[in-house]
Amino acid sequence: MLGLSILYVLLWGSVVYGIVLKIYLEKSRGKFTGKERLDGKVVLITGATQGIGVEVARDLIRRGCRLWIACRDLKRGQEVAQDLGGDCKLLRMDLCSLTSVRRAARHLIEKEPRLDILINNAAVIPARTNIFTEDGFEATYQTNYLSVVYLTLLLFEILRKSPSARVVNVSSNLHHVGFLGCISEDATREHSWFESPLQMYSNSKFALNMVTKELAKLFQPENIHVNTVHPGATKTKITLQGTTSMALFFHFVYHLFGKSPEEAAQAITYVAVSKDLEGVTGKYFVDCGVGWDNWRVNDPDRRRKLFEDTCRLLDLPSP
Ligand SMILES: NC(=O)c1ccc[n+]([C@@H]2O[C@H](COP(=O)([O-])OP(=O)(O)OC[C@H]3O[C@@H](n4cnc5c(N)ncnc54)[C@H](OP(=O)(O)O)[C@@H]3O)[C@@H](O)[C@H]2O)c1
Repeated sequence: MLGLSILYVLLWGSVVYGIVLKIYLEKSRGKFTGKERLDGKVVLITGATQGIGVEVARDLIRRGCRLWIACRDLKRGQEVAQDLGGDCKLLRMDLCSLTSVRRAARHLIEKEPRLDILINNAAVIPARTNIFTEDGFEATYQTNYLSVVYLTLLLFEILRKSPSARVVNVSSNLHHVGFLGCISEDATREHSWFESPLQMYSNSKFALNMVTKELAKLFQPENIHVNTVHPGATKTKITLQGTTSMALFFHFVYHLFGKSPEEAAQAITYVAVSKDLEGVTGKYFVDCGVGWDNWRVNDPDRRRKLFEDTCRLLDLPSP
C-alpha cells in the first residue's frame, strides 16, 4: 500500500515537474522580431531541404534577398524552392564530396558578383561511425566540419566583395562534450565502438567552434564577420539519424521539450541579419544572445594548429 502511494506521488511529481519545465523553457526562449530587410543582398544557405534550414530560408526570402539553396537532392530542393517562392535558386552540392563543394563554389562565383551572407547550416548525426567519403574522410567530420571550412574559404573572394559580409556556422551546445586530438588523424582513422555517432557529431561541432574564431581573425580586415550559433534543441529529423537507442531518447526528449523549427530558425536568422550584431565577429550565440564557448575553444595555439592542419588536409594554402 505504502509502495503504491510512493509510486503515485513520484508519477504525479514527474508529470507536474515536466509541465513546469516545459512552460519555463517555452517562456524563456529567445525571439528575434527584427524587421531588417535584405533587398539586393545575396545569401547562400546549406541544409535548407528540411528541418530548421527551411524555416531560416523562409524568413530570408520574406526579407527580400536572392537566396541560393545548396542541396544534394535537387528534386527535394525544387519542392522547397517552389514552396518558398521569391528569388530562390538551387546549387547542387554534396558536403560529402570536396569535388562537389568545389564545383558548387565555382558555379556561384561565376553567377554572383558578391555574397553577403553564407549560412553553413547542414549537418548530420550519422547512423554509424566509420562511413568514409570518396575523399577518405569520416563522413561526420567531412559534412559538419571539413566541407564547411572548404566552402567558406573557396567563397572568400565573393564574400569580400560585399561591403559587410556575414558567415554563420550552425553549431551545437554538444560542442561542450566534443574532443579533438589531431584533425588529420581524427578525420581519417577507424573509430572504435565506444566513439558513438553522437560523439563524432560533438567533436565536429567542437572543431567548428574552434575554427570559427580563426576564420573570424583571418576575415576581419575584409569586413567579413564569422560567428557560430546553437539554435536550441529542436524537433527535427536529425535525431532520427543516429543509432536506435540514442535516436529514441533524443526524439522523445526533443519532441516533449524541444523548440519548433520556426522557433529555432530565429536564433540563426538573428546572427545572420540583426543590425545589433554589425561588426561582431568570432562569437558563439545561443538562443538570440551571446553564449559561452567551451573553455577549451579559447586556446589560441590549439586553434591555430587545427586551422593549419585543416588547410593541409584540404590541400589549401596555409592561412
Ligand atoms: N535539431 C536540433 O536539436 C539541433 C540542435 C543543435 C544544433 N542543430 C544544428 O542545426 C542545424 C540544422 O539541423 P536540423 O535539426 O534542421 O537537421 P535536419 O532536419 O536533419 O536537416 C539537415 C540538413 O542538412 C542537409 N545535409 C545533410 N548531409 C548533407 C550533405 N552531405 N550534403 C548536403 N546537405 C546535407 C540535409 O539535406 P537532405 O535533405 O539531403 O538530407 C538537411 O537539409 C545542424 O547544423 C545541426 O547540427 C540542431
